[in-house]
Amino acid sequence: MLGFSRRELLLGSTGCVAAFAAGGIAASRAEATTHQLTLANLDHRILPDAITRNMMSFAEGAPPPVLRFKQGEKVIVDVRNKLDEATVVHWHGLRIANAMDGVPYLTQYPIEPGQSFRYAFTPPDAGTFWYHPHCNTLEQIARGLTGVLVVEEADDPGFDHDVPLNLRDFRLGGDGQFISFYKPRNAARGGTLGTVSTVNWEVEPTYAFEAGSLVRLRLAVTDLTRVGRYEIAGADAQVIAIDSNPLPAPMPAHDVILSPGQRADIALRMPDEEGRAAELALQRKIGSKVLARFLAKGASLGRDLAELKPLPQNPVPQADLKNAEVIEFVFGWSPEGDAPQSNICGSLGYTFWSINRTAWPGDLPGPFDPLATLKLGKSYILRLRNETPNAHPIHLHGVSFQLLRSNKREIPKLVTDTALLLSEETMDLALVADNPGDWAFHCHVIEHQKTGLAGFLRIED
Ligand code: C2O
Ligand code: CU
Ligand code: CU
Repeated sequence: MLGFSRRELLLGSTGCVAAFAAGGIAASRAEATTHQLTLANLDHRILPDAITRNMMSFAEGAPPPVLRFKQGEKVIVDVRNKLDEATVVHWHGLRIANAMDGVPYLTQYPIEPGQSFRYAFTPPDAGTFWYHPHCNTLEQIARGLTGVLVVEEADDPGFDHDVPLNLRDFRLGGDGQFISFYKPRNAARGGTLGTVSTVNWEVEPTYAFEAGSLVRLRLAVTDLTRVGRYEIAGADAQVIAIDSNPLPAPMPAHDVILSPGQRADIALRMPDEEGRAAELALQRKIGSKVLARFLAKGASLGRDLAELKPLPQNPVPQADLKNAEVIEFVFGWSPEGDAPQSNICGSLGYTFWSINRTAWPGDLPGPFDPLATLKLGKSYILRLRNETPNAHPIHLHGVSFQLLRSNKREIPKLVTDTALLLSEETMDLALVADNPGDWAFHCHVIEHQKTGLAGFLRIED
């Protein structure tokens, strides 16, 4: 948290030593690549015959750009705030220094209108990530501020095409204009769904690729609310990574459950026959809904999924389960409490949820107490207990963890940053507390996050 100057100083000096020690290798590589993100309002056509006004993007006059970084290489992202409100930018899933994590007051002051902030970091892991604001988060995401972030592996796995897909809904009325971003009665339950599903800000787009070619689809669910079940129909396709971490073995690309904040990398082999299409669909009880089409063109390249090189594992440390300390968290309703205080990062004016019986008071200067303090370098088991009937995708910043077990179902031992807790489910996660700082820990259904279901963990020496 800002204001803990002694600790900041300590971290600062540690950071310098590490940078200095690694300098020999880093210095011989290219200089950091600089990217620009300009947050601005825009009007944009989402529905075929209406221009949606007062959207927000990370570029002037265009949808959010895909950011492409390289694993282990330093980048600089200069963020300019041309909105008429404060913001911060968070890099969801990147295990980087706390000061670059983009959480108001916990790691930096909000970027005021007209101001800029320089983020500089080196992504340690490859995969599909995303970026979004962490200030007035509900409204800023609702208006459009979500972008896909790709960190490329050093070795090309052998795809013909690489296609980021930003999956999200907008809440638009028939006239194409925003309607209320949420309903309080939904915020106290499963959350408020959007009305128009989009892929890269388009409704049911079609992408054309050579017949028989290999395409890497990078699904990023950047929606505020939707927990969905996805599939690829009409072609051979396999899930090869979830939440930027490669799976031990590929899985079939159907019944892929993704909640807000989650990603899936899918290897798609285009149909052989020109004019045939594969589809990305949301599997719903009332039938599948096509989100995007992949249309085969030209003569078949005749490629085979088996030609792809397996993705290398990311350097996430393995927890020492024998010596891990168990820390329990309970996600529940809010105890009787005050409405959250208003602040420059926005408040919905309600408190419905809590972690360990405490509702997050809002994005305020604090200081606040962490939910738990973890010792740098030690292994932990986080035991997450959902005592509510609603699903909660619980996200932790700064470190990745491994899913261990659930009291309700068999779960694959995925390495991730977001654990979907189903109704009344208890799940154990394992992690090594290897990244010092104050790390946000919250539900990624943004209405839940903004009405109490948030807090932070402190990792310190
Ligand atoms: Cu995707 Cu706290 O963030
Ligand atoms: Cu995050
Ligand atoms: Cu939730």
